[in-house]
Amino acid sequence: MTTPAPVRFAATDLDAIAAATGRLAVFVTPDGKLDAEGRRVNRLMRGALQRIVEGGALEKKEAGEVISLAWPAGLAAEALDMVILPRNAGIEDSRRAGAALGRAKGDKALTILGGTLRRPAEVALGAVLRAYDYTAHKTAEKTEPGAITVTVREPEASEAAFAPARAVAEGVFLTRDLTNAPANHLTTTAFAEEIKGLAALGLKITVLEESDMEQLGMGALLAVGQGSASPSKLAVMEWQGGETGAAPLALVGKGVVFDTGGISIKPAQGMEEMTMDMGGAGVVTGVMRTLAARKARANVVGLVGLVENMPSGTATRPGDVVTSMKGDTIEIINTDAEGRLVLADVLWYAQKTWRPRGVIDLATLTGACIIALGHENAAALANDDTLCGAVLAAAKAEGEGLWRLPLGKGYAEMLKSRIADVKNVGGRPAGTITAAEFLHRFIEEGTPWVHLDIAGVASVQADTTYAPKGATGWGVRTLDRLVRDICEGD
Ligand code: BES
Ligand code: MN
Ligand code: ZN
Repeated sequence: MTTPAPVRFAATDLDAIAAATGRLAVFVTPDGKLDAEGRRVNRLMRGALQRIVEGGALEKKEAGEVISLAWPAGLAAEALDMVILPRNAGIEDSRRAGAALGRAKGDKALTILGGTLRRPAEVALGAVLRAYDYTAHKTAEKTEPGAITVTVREPEASEAAFAPARAVAEGVFLTRDLTNAPANHLTTTAFAEEIKGLAALGLKITVLEESDMEQLGMGALLAVGQGSASPSKLAVMEWQGGETGAAPLALVGKGVVFDTGGISIKPAQGMEEMTMDMGGAGVVTGVMRTLAARKARANVVGLVGLVENMPSGTATRPGDVVTSMKGDTIEIINTDAEGRLVLADVLWYAQKTWRPRGVIDLATLTGACIIALGHENAAALANDDTLCGAVLAAAKAEGEGLWRLPLGKGYAEMLKSRIADVKNVGGRPAGTITAAEFLHRFIEEGTPWVHLDIAGVASVQADTTYAPKGATGWGVRTLDRLVRDICEGD
């Protein structure tokens, strides 16, 4: 796994500033006030920071933005980053400021002179998240990420505040690595092996093989993988950090390691992007890692359906009818609407096995979701306002875009099949909603459920605030926050 830059907190030491190597960051308020460390830097640089302030450079900048100076005279550091941030900055601005530093940092060492920061741990988290770089397949000599040192008045308190943030960063990095990984490397088997490795953190791991799923009658999931040389799998990660016997929250992920579309094959243009079609499973795996690493006081079970959607002589054909574990028969009109087939059986299995207090599924499910919401927001569709409200609130608190779309009987009727109980596509209108209505069939009456379509946000073609282009890890922070909010009560 890509390791996050090490973060340590040290006591403020004005006399150590001149000799600090790597990059050095100081804070200035929007109205141009420097703290004691900033004033020391200013003095060492013979008034350079004061000139920036007096020259009016701050006026065009927003909170969280950075002005960088290369090879600053008077300092051993190779660059000086001046960050604009109010003294009472909230979580979001603090993280954004950190992210701006993390972006500039690259793999260099970074010393953040954080003397008067209200939320140094949040600044550090922003920096760590943005400093991610996926280099698993670059042959050039790999460098370890340079450490981030934050100087503060009370290092122990900041260290304690950062401990859960470190677990979050590790979860996000795992999700991004999985989502960025090419499909010839991250096969269904390799994914399951990665998950088995999480047992070291105290998670209970179970992997169902094709023969197990045949016995359970998972004809929908198995139909998707039957054209691939890679065996389909269902991996389960259980975290028991709450009361014994208390019903868990279930997180379910679509893990299509590559989606060619199957016999309903996709156009060649852009097909390589379908290596991210396991993004939902990537988020579930990342969150489970975070929960275990920070020893969350909650019971959560993560389930991922791992399959590859390939065209071949053994592949499912359009027109085939399969039987799901629930017993419903499904007419497969389009083999490219495969994610919902995988989720149908995993959702049913999750409910029958754990009787969860709530189910949240994540899936790169529909291109229609990108047409509706672009890359700014994922879509939420739910049968329960309370659980959906909690998910929306958690996403808002974490700055991860999420917008609710409706469900409705009329949409469900678009899935009527002439020859089976249901068909797997409902036509072009409202594609994200009809996909969700398909899943809705496999949710039992009374089980609170939220479906998150992350097709537009799991991996993006441009840098975002907290990630370089490619996999974002969208959802790990939201779900970690949700578990805190609804299971841990803090
Ligand atoms: N994995 C795709 C959806 C997708 C598209 C994710 C673009 C990320 C970016 C999904 O399996 C799919 O192919 N959906 C079809 C459904 C259609 C056949 C009803 C789609 O959206 O075109
Ligand atoms: Mn597809
Ligand atoms: Zn897909």
